[in-house]
Amino acid sequence: MAKREIKDYPLISFDSDGIEGFIDFDGIFARRLPLHIEIGSGKGTFLVNQASVQTEINFFGIEWANKYYKHAVDRIGRWQLTNVRITRADAAELIAANIAEDSVDCFHIYFPDPWPKSRHHKRRMVCEKNSEQMLRCLKSGGIINIATDHDEYYQWMREVFAGFIAAGRVVEIDFIKPIGAEAEEMAGTNFERKYLKEGRITNTIAVKKV
Ligand SMILES: C[S@@+](CC[C@H](N)C(=O)[O-])C[C@H]1O[C@@H](n2cnc3c(N)ncnc32)[C@H](O)[C@@H]1O
Repeated sequence: MAKREIKDYPLISFDSDGIEGFIDFDGIFARRLPLHIEIGSGKGTFLVNQASVQTEINFFGIEWANKYYKHAVDRIGRWQLTNVRITRADAAELIAANIAEDSVDCFHIYFPDPWPKSRHHKRRMVCEKNSEQMLRCLKSGGIINIATDHDEYYQWMREVFAGFIAAGRVVEIDFIKPIGAEAEEMAGTNFERKYLKEGRITNTIAVKKV
């Protein structure tokens, strides 16, 4: 079978290289709507499924791997979705430097890389430092919605959020199943589908900023 041509869609791909200051989301979407950010979008399955139904939300994906990023841009572009942008960046750096406080309604994090070796734990996306930054960016009532197949990382996440819960800064809420998730799935992303075939269990955690 012929390999599909991967196209760029300049309206979808947001170049954040060397960006200074806060991203002007109202400007790049050309309309003010609630803002949801997905960290680690992979091939863009969540963004396509969710944004094609929730047209009154602006979705912004952050994906580090160039190959996945290009694939996601191509898919979102083919779907002609006007409420999605995606950028190729390290989400931890971009969020800390370029996302304004009290500006985000929801962070979606589905199957973040677990970095299982202790010496790599500092690379984990869900850690105290990055969660502190996400909380800074969230509006009051804003949500962090996470799914993972990795048991030890899941326990680590629970410990990270236990501190914020104890401090009264967030409350735990029920995980919000994305629209594309089938009955036996929690998130319905490519990685969940792959992991389910391998018999792995998905755990979830969701918190709301007080
Ligand atoms: C296990 S995959 C999950 C992809 C997708 N969410 C899914 O469930 O199919 C993790 C994704 O996070 C991306 N990623 C890892 N570290 C990242 C970072 N610091 N910033 C942005 N994306 C990152 C990886 O490139 C990869 O696409």
